[in-house]
Amino acid sequence: MKQREKHGKTHGMKSVVRVPLGERAYDITIAEGALGRIGSLVRAALGDAARRVAIFSNARVYSLCGHTTASSLRAAGFGVDEHLMGDGERAKSLRTAERAWSYLIERRFERGDAILALGGGVVGDMAGFVAATYQRGVPYIQAPTTLLAQIDSSVGGKTAVNHSLGKNLIGAFHQPRAVIIDPLILHCLPAREFRAGLYEAVKYGIIRDAELAGWIDREHEAIAAMEPAAMTRLIARCCEIKAEVVTADERESGLRQILNYGHTVGHALEAVTHYRRLKHGEAVAYGMKCAARIAEALGILNEEDRRKIARSVDMFGVLPKINDLDPGAIIAATAYDKKVSRGKVKFILPTQVGSVITRDDVPMKVLRGAVREMLR
Ligand code: NAD
Ligand code: GLY
Repeated sequence: MKQREKHGKTHGMKSVVRVPLGERAYDITIAEGALGRIGSLVRAALGDAARRVAIFSNARVYSLCGHTTASSLRAAGFGVDEHLMGDGERAKSLRTAERAWSYLIERRFERGDAILALGGGVVGDMAGFVAATYQRGVPYIQAPTTLLAQIDSSVGGKTAVNHSLGKNLIGAFHQPRAVIIDPLILHCLPAREFRAGLYEAVKYGIIRDAELAGWIDREHEAIAAMEPAAMTRLIARCCEIKAEVVTADERESGLRQILNYGHTVGHALEAVTHYRRLKHGEAVAYGMKCAARIAEALGILNEEDRRKIARSVDMFGVLPKINDLDPGAIIAATAYDKKVSRGKVKFILPTQVGSVITRDDVPMKVLRGAVREMLR
């Protein structure tokens, strides 16, 4: 947690983390009740000249916090439009993007107008993609409402839609002008979605911050109960780590790949279960345990740390059972991962809690053994 002083400020239940990307720099504001005063935060991020904001959301999220958000934007002098898209991964499609482009064109949305993504990662990725492409790019703001979106997908400017042949294959890098996080909205989140986000928080500790990993272990009850101080601290530290990594490697040519810890096998699990059975965070949780087993088998992680990693992943509850899955299909699916380079599958492997390396030479025998263990 030492980085806090360097990268951000925390006042009571509010924390601000800067993403220092030069002319694309922006603030991540984490504050209870932030959605109720989002208008002034958006005004500060966009400036006095901005006139209109289109809220992109879905019906479920909009019914929870859409009106509060829209009222606050209007009070800050914005004209507000609302565009609701479908819910779920299938809504992250080119067809949905086309509907959104039409919506903006029909309303004569201009280059200086902005989009506000109010929802989970699906809404955020989609709204960001539309913002990146409409008139070659308009400003957008992320107001993430799932834990996964608050600590991961809303930060860093990766935007995408899915293609029928694979997830997130069509996209662009486009940084938001601000990320505005209200941890209170997480109280509406189904418990399983919350847990799925917690696995990504555990991931940050394992890849880069042993102190965070230890703190999550010690405070897991406060975190599971969404105690305000614990949640603000957790979200802020995860955002700080993401901001550091993205600032060092915005376009994922090196360091940013560490964020994919657990994702090689995780994505394979999502693919073989047709994106229906597991939440993304749950698949990553299995993937993290599997990668730790691979690392142990390669002799780069000791057994004690491998057990520690497994314990941290299991701490927030039992993962859905997957022991009926075919190990061969999972292994075959790793070859379709976006991280495959020159035919070699890349794995992010822990060397201890708080540190990972990238390897593309994992022998098939080792991978097979780790996948079998994972399915046990
Ligand atoms: P999601 O957006 O599908 O949200 C999960 C469910 O929770 C949805 O049904 C949604 O309507 C609902 N919901 C959202 N906020 C709620 C709230 N406060 N209360 C009650 N229900 C609420 O899923 P997600 O896990 O947020 O995001 C997953 C997506 O994020 C995937 O498409 C993934 O590819 C993407 N992603 C992107 C990045 C990135 O860097 N851009 C990183 C990680 C994941
Ligand atoms: N979620 C991975 C990344 O943003 O790079």
